[in-house]
Amino acid sequence: MTKKRFLTGITTTGTPHLGNYVGAIRPAIAASQNPDAESFFFLADLHALIKCHEPERIHQSTKEIAATWLALGLDPEKVVFYRQSDVPEITELCWILTCQSAKGLLNRAHAYKAAVDANVAEGQDPDYAITMGLFSYPVLMAADILMFNATHVPVGKDQTQHLEMARDIAQRFNHRFGETFVLPETVVQENGEVLLGLDGRKMSKSYNNTIPLFLAEKQLQKHINKIKTNLLEPGEPKDPDDSTVFQIWKAFATPEQTEDMRRKFAEGIAWGQAKKELFELINSEISAARERYEDLMSRPADVEAILQAGAAKARDRAKPFLAKVRKAVGLYPLG
Ligand code: TRP
Repeated sequence: MTKKRFLTGITTTGTPHLGNYVGAIRPAIAASQNPDAESFFFLADLHALIKCHEPERIHQSTKEIAATWLALGLDPEKVVFYRQSDVPEITELCWILTCQSAKGLLNRAHAYKAAVDANVAEGQDPDYAITMGLFSYPVLMAADILMFNATHVPVGKDQTQHLEMARDIAQRFNHRFGETFVLPETVVQENGEVLLGLDGRKMSKSYNNTIPLFLAEKQLQKHINKIKTNLLEPGEPKDPDDSTVFQIWKAFATPEQTEDMRRKFAEGIAWGQAKKELFELINSEISAARERYEDLMSRPADVEAILQAGAAKARDRAKPFLAKVRKAVGLYPLG
């Protein structure tokens, strides 16, 4: 049996928050410790260029995301951890795949369609402010995945269409040029692992309701105090299943701690007290990693060296495979 090969990318436009941690980073690092699987994690900085035109932000986010994964125990010896733009084979493969991607397929991509629909709704030209980068986003993502013949790709629900497109593009290529690419399977994150944000909606950078993962203790406490609650007084029973505080508690607690908190809600725990306990719970899970994070952030050259070593490993895989792809389409030395 061939090893499962997991691969996922993180777009470098933001600061990692508790929702990213619970929904993606924590399960991915846990899965990477399974010796029966191989893992590829990369910083999708070329994807970041599509939606972010602030160089400083992309640079800072790259550093923060790399330091976060390393601080949380990702072992760069065991996994392939790299920055997308350090592997030029990916962009070359992207062009080769672009030439196999039907425009009609990409016309249907949700992100692109949403942008067109928003323009039309505002009475704008349908193409207003839409770049070829946005339009071709799914092809670059297909190149990321197919470059390493990933078998399993863990992503959020919003990305499943992109995975279907990657399979579609791979199939078309294989059909025309012979079996070359593995068709990747999508691993959708469980519903229960979507964390709610300060305002009770899904925690997301685009809602501006996040709690950054590695805030200083005081700041973390302050953010937790801002989680929206109802007006019930201390002593009044509270409904845990209608509470963001409880929902976040569950993501960090053991089953016993969850039952315990459920009981405290029924007994009318004060919101202030529940938030204080939530802070302590989260802080105890992340405080050691926070120290490692701060240390890594203070020596970016060391983080860079780790990424360079990762890129070298990635390119060792990518180069011979790309040569095979080039050959398949007719790009190879004369004689
Ligand atoms: N588009 C993904 C996201 O926004 C990030 C990403 C880029 C990715 N390339 C990938 C995820 C390849 C999985 C595989 O979440």
